Amino acid sequence: MATNILDRFKETIEEKITSASDKKIKVGIIGTGWIAEAHVANYLKCDDVEIVAAADLVPGKAEKFCKDNGIEGVRLYPDHKSMIDAEELDAVSVCTYNRTHAECTIYALQHGVNVLLEKPMCVTLEEAVEICKAEKASGKILSIGFQPRFDANMKMLKKVVQSGELGDIYYIQTGGGRRRGIPTPYGTSFIDEKTAGLGALADIGCYSLDMVLNAIGYPKPLTVSGYTSDFFGKDPAYFESHPEYADVFSVDDFAAAFIRLEGGIVLDFRISWAMNLDTPGDTIILGKKGGLRIPSTECWNGSIGGPLKIYKTIAGEEVETEIPEKDDGVDNFYKKIRLFVDAVKEGGAAPVPSSQILYNQAIIDGIAKSARLGREIAIEIPEV
Ligand SMILES: NC(=O)c1ccc[n+]([C@@H]2O[C@H](COP(=O)([O-])OP(=O)(O)OC[C@H]3O[C@@H](n4cnc5c(N)ncnc54)[C@H](O)[C@@H]3O)[C@@H](O)[C@H]2O)c1
Repeated sequence: MATNILDRFKETIEEKITSASDKKIKVGIIGTGWIAEAHVANYLKCDDVEIVAAADLVPGKAEKFCKDNGIEGVRLYPDHKSMIDAEELDAVSVCTYNRTHAECTIYALQHGVNVLLEKPMCVTLEEAVEICKAEKASGKILSIGFQPRFDANMKMLKKVVQSGELGDIYYIQTGGGRRRGIPTPYGTSFIDEKTAGLGALADIGCYSLDMVLNAIGYPKPLTVSGYTSDFFGKDPAYFESHPEYADVFSVDDFAAAFIRLEGGIVLDFRISWAMNLDTPGDTIILGKKGGLRIPSTECWNGSIGGPLKIYKTIAGEEVETEIPEKDDGVDNFYKKIRLFVDAVKEGGAAPVPSSQILYNQAIIDGIAKSARLGREIAIEIPEV
């Protein structure tokens, strides 16, 4: 019986990972910090891409970045505006900290440039709506950088849910956590409200939300009751060699929420950069005909911690089916870049569309607002 179920879920790689064609697209990098390295490394694998420009607010940072990453002849700028004004770019990667995601993306779209925007989409719902409006007015492609989506196991999880094997979904528990994992190896841009806007809630919470919402088809969020705390980040002892980081820490390091979605589905969510526990539990999806368990990882970064397990009753027997882990042999970050480049060249749909991630951002924003107010709130998403 288990084998039969598995046969029905044999995976085919949906995305087309193409190779180069004649036309080279001109790309600029906005923000030359840590994640920009992964963008550059993967653009360099595409011989139909030319990285022509890079910008960073910190004097000398873009120059050092280009040298360190082996990209030559790149024109350098002190900010996104000067780069977009001076260059004829086909696309930019927005690799800035969260607080400047919206302004860089909107400026690029308004100037006719396609955008690959790093996750989380931005900080507030209001910014997300402005981004979507700019995208709509521009007719350009905007894709949001959720590379875990392209993982073969994530695609399998979506296939299982979409197949109807679980029946109507009514309850989801998701999240992820780290016992000690406040991200400060490269400085304070993730923990300072002025640069990050939000903490664990947006940084890794956006992945947990995308994992399950993408699987169930991104129903509209309706209400949320959220909670956030900062007990670890505010403690100088946490940072050992950098006790001064506790004074900078001005975001959340833990968040939890109960969210109601259209279609009568409820979502129980918790996320942590630091807590006195190894993980806040597996992700579970309950349907009327079956349940799915997605094992958690100890350092949540959007990957799953083991084989998916389906729970069903078949011929009166309680049956559990483990789906072997999958690896399609293609790096997820490469897929994110390659599929974006293909969409730009072919005028296709964005690999990770903003229309979906708008709901992801609406939930994050709703959790933050509800936590501030200390009560449940309705999520109102303006028309784009
Ligand atoms: N997809 C992933 O796996 C992944 C992993 C890590 C980080 N990220 C995301 O990438 C983003 C950047 O993270 P990071 O670790 O590289 O941050 P970082 O702080 O190391 O780098 C951001 C850089 O952007 C620059 N910047 C900000 N505003 C700018 C502007 N208007 N013009 C030009 N430069 C500007 C800053 O000076 C800084 O050098 C964050 O939103 C983060 O959530 C994604």
